[in-house]
Amino acid sequence: MDLKGMIREIQDFPKEGINFKDITTILKDGAAFTYVIDKLAAQLEDLEVDVIVGPEARGFIVGTPVAYKLGKAFVPIRKPGKLPAETVKYEYELEYGTDALEVHKDAIKPGQRVAILDDLLATGGTVLATAKLIEELGGTVVSLNFLIELTFLRGRETLKDYQVKTLVSYN
Ligand code: PRP
Repeated sequence: MDLKGMIREIQDFPKEGINFKDITTILKDGAAFTYVIDKLAAQLEDLEVDVIVGPEARGFIVGTPVAYKLGKAFVPIRKPGKLPAETVKYEYELEYGTDALEVHKDAIKPGQRVAILDDLLATGGTVLATAKLIEELGGTVVSLNFLIELTFLRGRETLKDYQVKTLVSYN
């Protein structure tokens, strides 16, 4: 399937100089969405993953169907102030701006094997922050899986301590 051909590119969104990769053009095609989720789930076979973790917001879109398909738990990573119970926070840099992420303190049990899923790897800041949160809770991050990778932003260097897999790359 020509995923790259299906991903819409929007110049100068949300800021000048950013060529935004819009995955809604995949999501609205049932066959393409199914193909993407099946591919991401297949990458996790044999890793004995206990929990799928996804950062807000697009990490939910790819993470929850993979968790469902594998019959595993899903844990959301959210922007500050959104989670109702006790949280831990990690601050990080984005492709455009800075932000922080939070997770519920009781979301991961020590020793659980975690795969982090997101739609896009840019600088790697979001998923590195997510991995740090999981590790702070005692989880083991066994895989980082993305639909899209922007290789020129060198996210893999930021995530060099982890296994990274992606479906589509932009150089
Ligand atoms: C985007 C994208 C990734 C992250 C990638 O999310 O969905 O989560 O940026 O960038 P990075 O590798 O440089 O960290 P965004 O923060 O825009 O949030 P959203 O999904 O809520 O729009």
